[in-house]
Amino acid sequence: MPGRAQPFALTARETEVGRLLSGGLTNREAAARLFGTPASGGFHLGSIHGRLGVRARHEPRRWWADHREGRTRGARPGARNARWRRAGNRPRTPAPRTAAPHRRGSDAAPATPCMSRPYLLKWSPMPQTRRADGPADRVGRRPLPAPRTPSPRDAPPLHWGVIAPGGIAASFVGALRAHTEQRVVAVGSRDAGRSRAFADRFGIPAAYGSYAEVLDDVRVDIVYIASPHSEHCAQALQAIEAGKHVLVEKSFTRNAREAEQLIRAARDQGVFCMEAMWMRFLPHIDIVRQVLDLGLLGEVRTMTADHGQCMDPATAHRLFAPELAGGALLDLGVYPVSFASMVLGPFATLTTVGDTTPTGVDAQASVVVTNDAGAHGVLHTTLHVRTPTTASISGTRARLEIEGAFYAPATVRLIGRSNELLGYHVPAQREGGLCFEAAEAARCVAAGRLESDLMPLDETLRVMRALDRIRADLGVTFPGE
Ligand SMILES: NC(=O)c1ccc[n+]([C@@H]2O[C@H](COP(=O)([O-])OP(=O)(O)OC[C@H]3O[C@@H](n4cnc5c(N)ncnc54)[C@H](OP(=O)(O)O)[C@@H]3O)[C@@H](O)[C@H]2O)c1
Repeated sequence: MPGRAQPFALTARETEVGRLLSGGLTNREAAARLFGTPASGGFHLGSIHGRLGVRARHEPRRWWADHREGRTRGARPGARNARWRRAGNRPRTPAPRTAAPHRRGSDAAPATPCMSRPYLLKWSPMPQTRRADGPADRVGRRPLPAPRTPSPRDAPPLHWGVIAPGGIAASFVGALRAHTEQRVVAVGSRDAGRSRAFADRFGIPAAYGSYAEVLDDVRVDIVYIASPHSEHCAQALQAIEAGKHVLVEKSFTRNAREAEQLIRAARDQGVFCMEAMWMRFLPHIDIVRQVLDLGLLGEVRTMTADHGQCMDPATAHRLFAPELAGGALLDLGVYPVSFASMVLGPFATLTTVGDTTPTGVDAQASVVVTNDAGAHGVLHTTLHVRTPTTASISGTRARLEIEGAFYAPATVRLIGRSNELLGYHVPAQREGGLCFEAAEAARCVAAGRLESDLMPLDETLRVMRALDRIRADLGVTFPGE
């Protein structure tokens, strides 16, 4: 069809490029992996992108996702990007308008080859790339360690009851079914129709029209509480009184006072209790722990973590509701705060700048924390806009970068002092990450442990206290507090 590019079959090499890029590797990493030497690899990869079209280079992951679903139109070999551009397409990132330095004035220095050919700069050599699980090199530098996270499928099966079948409960049960041997045997909702629909969707044997009936079901070993934050404490206390183990969604409770109450009750009753801070159980976070324990970063001086989502204030979403303990902090900001607590340990100081929504919950917060060693954590959360959701930890010897969303299965890069890539980890599984927290709970319960070493209750309490301080700085209190 004139004027319109047709789809075309990919070569084996192009398919491999697609697999790597959609798996989270950057163009540079894919070039290094495929072609060995990054410099000439960049040239080869550039040729492949040239054949596929401009968009494959500028938005590789989106392009490959589209291609998998048959939605791409590529340029025919040799036509490079002309058709794509003629069809009115443009790369999303505007080109820089900066004038080349040698053209600014008549007495400016003549152009060097690099200055006149930015393409060469883009694919400049990358000296120390190696696989995440590769051996130490000759001078003893260690690459990223492999994750030690056991397979969720090997965790002993428990019988789960689910309370409050909303959005995250569906993700949780889906992850359990896809990636574990855990069995969900009962679900309870405030509405019998909703619990029946949820049970039918996931093949759950018992559907109850109240939460109490889940607690009365003798088959249930452990209860997963997935209601809004305002309800966590009361519902978990009831489950603990009924002698059930509990996994409570993050944020654990509305505030530290409720968290203390819950922790005391669980310890008194001798049942397992854990905050479902799923990030802490993910394989890439185990790598972060190992990197810190091994001192690969040297002395940590600063870290960053961010989580912002764009929530429409016109919707009656629970995040805008003070009575449900809404706000950015307990839903989104808890991840940066929990991550900072894991990396830095107890906070020595905490300073907040932020604002609130017209409904009176926190909308946006920028928080700077320090620890006793004087390291800084720069944390951010917002419900106004979608932010990069990345995290980084910088030390005197190297830094770690976690791509967004850092709190979900993500690529981690170890980068040296000269900005060279020392190692990286690409997650084997990106979907169903909630299975790892369930597997950890199952292992602990089967071993007779009352809390997890990966997310101890005292650590949950420490995070809740930090969240309280941030809210206090913003002047946000919830009804009934
Ligand atoms: N781990 C994660 O990635 C992740 C992601 C999102 C949310 N979360 C956490 O999970 C929890 C629930 O979030 P969600 O997004 O799943 O919420 P959601 O979709 O609104 O579902 C919450 C459910 O709670 C029940 N509920 C009980 N009391 C309620 C009340 N007073 N008002 C409204 N609903 C009430 C409702 O179920 P019934 O009425 O049917 O009983 C509702 O479906 C929160 O703690 C949140 O921070 C975790």
